[in-house]
Amino acid sequence: MITPMSAAEPLPRTFWAPGRVNLIGEHTDYSGGLVLPVALDLGVTLRVTQVGGPLRVTSSDGDAQRYAEAVAAELAERGFPVAGLEATITTTLPIGAGLSSSAALGVALALALTAVPGEVLGGLELAEVAQHAETRATGVPCGIMDQAASILGRPGHAVLLDTESLRWEHVRLPAGHALVVVDSGVRRRLEQSAYATRREELERGLAGAGDPVARRRVRHVESENERVREVVRVLRSEPVDADRLGKIFRDAHESLRVDFEVSTPELDELVELAYGLGASAARMTGAGFGGSIVALVPSERAARFTDEIVAAYSGSATARVGVAAGGAREL
Ligand code: GLA
Repeated sequence: MITPMSAAEPLPRTFWAPGRVNLIGEHTDYSGGLVLPVALDLGVTLRVTQVGGPLRVTSSDGDAQRYAEAVAAELAERGFPVAGLEATITTTLPIGAGLSSSAALGVALALALTAVPGEVLGGLELAEVAQHAETRATGVPCGIMDQAASILGRPGHAVLLDTESLRWEHVRLPAGHALVVVDSGVRRRLEQSAYATRREELERGLAGAGDPVARRRVRHVESENERVREVVRVLRSEPVDADRLGKIFRDAHESLRVDFEVSTPELDELVELAYGLGASAARMTGAGFGGSIVALVPSERAARFTDEIVAAYSGSATARVGVAAGGAREL
């Protein structure tokens, strides 16, 4: 039930939640594994213009109202008072590019819907609300990585999160490298992808099924968790061993391509191009089935790299240097 509230704070109130790019730890967050995402300086801005009355959001994203209702339902189910409000939502994130535009939307909504009635939720509880709202709105049984990254981001850092214990810490990004995100231009929506099927296959494998598919899914996740640990070790030793990072990212991409079967020919092409054009490390990022690759590129090469990879790609790509930014907050 939506409770009308009177505004305690002057309006408009503006909330911000970033998208993320995942450095490594893919498809590990729904089996208690490790992830290492980076919050970006691209995200969702939500401006509350009226408090009380029905919950109504205006956005160019046709799904925003559905997400808002899902977040409100999730909060109500957890016993939190839910604010009726009107808000306008704008985003600087490309939709369907694998940069968690929907998680950023969910986090911005969860933040606004709790802050307006004066509730303060701990970071990861807020992330859980947004994660479950996403499943409620779309049916996608996603993990907690994207929402957690959106909340826990810190400039210049990645977030190492253990999705079992929910313990996390910041890990500094390598000096002398730019974080480049190349969008393959292949759009996908997770609810129309094999995301839920992959999760079922993995769970079957973890429960002991011995068929080749289930075994390959488990092999990806076990090796990927080890790769996250290894990347963190490399990032914490100075100077950073770029060759080692490159090898781990290559293995991660191969594992997603062969064992987890979530890459696409376009993502494979971009990863090959990235190494050929001087990236220290590159792999597909996010759920796959389209979307983006992430690359660590020596800073002095980064501007040329973004132009060159777009020119060399067979499709229509967009490449940008990503900025590791702070997490969701009221502006
Ligand atoms: C999507 C999901 C995340 C995670 C990734 C794959 O982004 O929302 O929870 O599972 O895919 O690593």
